[in-house]
Amino acid sequence: MIKAITGTKDILPSEIPGWKRLESFVNTIFTSFNYKEIRTPIFEETSLFARGIGEETDIVGKEMYTFADRSGTSVTLKPEMTASVVRAFIEHSLGKRQPLNKFFYISPMFRQERPQAGRLRQFHQFGGEALGSTSPLLDAELIIIAFQILTSLGLRDLTVKINTLGVHSSRENYKRMLRDFLKDKKYMLSDDSRKRYDTNVLRIFDSKVESDQEILKEAPILIDHIDEESKNDFELVKDILINSKISFEIDPKLVRGLDYYTKTTFEIISGKVGSQNALCGGGRYDLLVEQLGGSPTPGVGFAAGIERILLACENEKSLSLPDDNIDLYIIKLDEDLSSKAFEVALEYRKENLFVEFDYLSRSVKAQMREANKLNARFVLFIGGDEYKSGKLNLKNMATGEQQLIDLNEYSKLIDLVRV
Ligand code: HAM
Repeated sequence: MIKAITGTKDILPSEIPGWKRLESFVNTIFTSFNYKEIRTPIFEETSLFARGIGEETDIVGKEMYTFADRSGTSVTLKPEMTASVVRAFIEHSLGKRQPLNKFFYISPMFRQERPQAGRLRQFHQFGGEALGSTSPLLDAELIIIAFQILTSLGLRDLTVKINTLGVHSSRENYKRMLRDFLKDKKYMLSDDSRKRYDTNVLRIFDSKVESDQEILKEAPILIDHIDEESKNDFELVKDILINSKISFEIDPKLVRGLDYYTKTTFEIISGKVGSQNALCGGGRYDLLVEQLGGSPTPGVGFAAGIERILLACENEKSLSLPDDNIDLYIIKLDEDLSSKAFEVALEYRKENLFVEFDYLSRSVKAQMREANKLNARFVLFIGGDEYKSGKLNLKNMATGEQQLIDLNEYSKLIDLVRV
């Protein structure tokens, strides 16, 4: 039997209401902050991600689905959206139309990671990107949007973590300090961290190896060595979060796994989903547009993992979705009336009533059971003596009340059912 590829997941009809609920919050909340939806292709030229995310990152180094297409072009299924949004922003000169562009998206992403709970190879993100302003108001705004979406879904066990990486030059100074600090301890580091010492020393902070973390305890702290501008911006972000009553932790080790970050970084963590606990992550990336060939344009954004969020909702039992129900179930008292039932159903369906009837030649009793299973609000009986005299019996399932309506009196039934 052919099965779905490891790390991919079918989203079955029973799960769709949760997805729809989440998507509707994403739409309304981003729209209320004037973010506009953007959709980009599923695959891009590989060099976009290599240049955008960084050659030395885990994503580019070992997780991308990259292949040569038939013309020999190296293409990659998008592992994240920021580089694609920036590519579209540059390609369509969106910065020339208006100075500040705010985008949001919902899209599948692809990373060849080791699958586990909350970690997939095809997963879905929603996110937002604001391009064109260095104002830390936007950093705070995006954290607030992410938090608002998560709490709208009923999530409570959330921790907002923030940090600042400073501007490029101050971070480079800090990297030198960190290398100096680790120089004579390098031999004690794990293999991965030793590699990162040369390629991306900040990422050593992400190490899950306890002895690495022990060594880092004495390391100089980035926040103590960053530039004044970044410090002031960070203060403003913190002030806004305090005024917005969003509690947060400062995590000096929050360096994030993508190379494009400058200044603010943040994540929102759930206490209810196990080890893959980051529901969303983001930060400022003031150099990325320029790096990808556009004119210098600051940016900030975040992305959130939908599967992880829905897992957190399940574990917190936070999403109360109303039971499905249908407006009307048509019961045939006589199997010969199937075509008539079809015709009547069609009339009501044209009016957007949610209508079903039996396609399986079931007994009247079985049809009634089906109507109950589907939580039908009304049942319409076709057949019997009433039908011979041109009438149908309509039953309100909540009250048990029944009334006769004329066969062709569609509008009366519609009025009754719509109330
Ligand atoms: P990221 O931290 O790589 O950032 O991913 C954001 C979120 O996507 C994670 O917090 C997680 O919830 C979800 N996620 C990542 N990988 C997986 C996976 N394999 N399976 C399930 N969920 C996953 C970014 O992607 C940046 N583009 C965020 C950003 C936007 N920064 C600025 N703008």
